[in-house]
Amino acid sequence: MNNQDTALSLAPAPLLSVVVPCYNEVENVEELIRRLAKALQGIFWEVIFVDDDSPDKTSQKVADLAFQDARVRLIHRIGRRGLSSACVEGMLSSSAPYLAVMDADLQHDETLLPEMMTALRSQQLDIVVGSRYVDGGGVGCWDTKRAAYSRFATQISRYFTQTELTDPMSGFFMIQRDALMQRVHRLSGVGFKILLDLFASSSTPLRFLELPYIFKERYAGESKLDNRAFLEFGMLLLDKWIGHLLPVRFVAFILVGGVGLLVHFFVLLLLFRLTGNSFMLGQTVATLVAMTTNYLLNNFFTYNDVQLKGWKLLTGWFSFTLVCGIGAAANVGISSLLFQRQTNWILSALAGIAISSVWNYAVTAVYTWRVPSIGTKP
Ligand code: GDD
Ligand code: MN
Repeated sequence: MNNQDTALSLAPAPLLSVVVPCYNEVENVEELIRRLAKALQGIFWEVIFVDDDSPDKTSQKVADLAFQDARVRLIHRIGRRGLSSACVEGMLSSSAPYLAVMDADLQHDETLLPEMMTALRSQQLDIVVGSRYVDGGGVGCWDTKRAAYSRFATQISRYFTQTELTDPMSGFFMIQRDALMQRVHRLSGVGFKILLDLFASSSTPLRFLELPYIFKERYAGESKLDNRAFLEFGMLLLDKWIGHLLPVRFVAFILVGGVGLLVHFFVLLLLFRLTGNSFMLGQTVATLVAMTTNYLLNNFFTYNDVQLKGWKLLTGWFSFTLVCGIGAAANVGISSLLFQRQTNWILSALAGIAISSVWNYAVTAVYTWRVPSIGTKP
């Protein structure tokens, strides 16, 4: 054995990485580590917290703990949000053969982890899922709205994933690294539902086992499952449905564009047809109003994960308007020209809109929301 080989074998890496996405969980992380340490005795493990720059300074807390304990690691992401993408990045940062994902708020039952690992090691399985809906599992005390939402989402997901999973919305599972690597390029990485994403992105079905657990009360802090989660759930389904043809952002942009079109025609109708202003004026004002509406809607829906807020919402609007100014000029120019040449007013407006939409999408993706490439999935 030469020196290098000796060096390589001196500090072996953990067998199990527990990936924990977190956002504003400062009160929970220490307790989670304590419970993991207790549950995982005898297993060579580590925990990887993936924090999206939480305002409550979760990442600083994790960094402090990581400095005291080498089993604790931190990925601190800035300018991004997203539970699924956090899980994916956490898993990709590990070289362990077994990868678990669980929430930071202690709602998932960490004592199930050893059993999950035993099942993965002893049976022909790709993934073991913690389920609230098999015998012995449960959701604890949920309000009716939350329970209804969960049931509804579970039904749609089962349809999409075509699996027998009882709990496709579960955020608690352990997967073999190889099984993940075979599918990771096809993942959407959108939203909350990483497990659903994994199952829906598999050309070869995942061999799975479900183990029951009781979904506990949150230890501290608040749930982030809000309207954003709903929205992202929609984006994920959209991506699974049409994402192999077009990037989901583009589809969302076009849908928002559809709303902008309605706004555009409403203003144009009001100014040009009903109050007798010139077509040029009507089209110019309609373009401006539609542009602002589109900006706000895209910022909320299409670019939810990199949403511009506060001061940046304003500067973003400026850059959007500035960049789209060229698009708008082309829009007004081309549509007016067509209109002057006796083209029908609706067709004239549509041609202007079509040209400016493509321009708007391509240029604002890069300059306003600064996503790395317009083809990149959120
Ligand atoms: N990094 C990161 N970024 N983490 C996030 C984000 C985010 O944008 N949003 C939420 N998280 C973290 C939370 O801090 C928590 O650790 C975990 O993801 C789950 O978020 P909760 O807000 O606690 O969600 P929940 O309890 O309502 O729903 C959970 O349980 C459901 C049932 O298993 C989630 O795991 C759902 O995916 C799951 O369906
Ligand atoms: Mn939770």
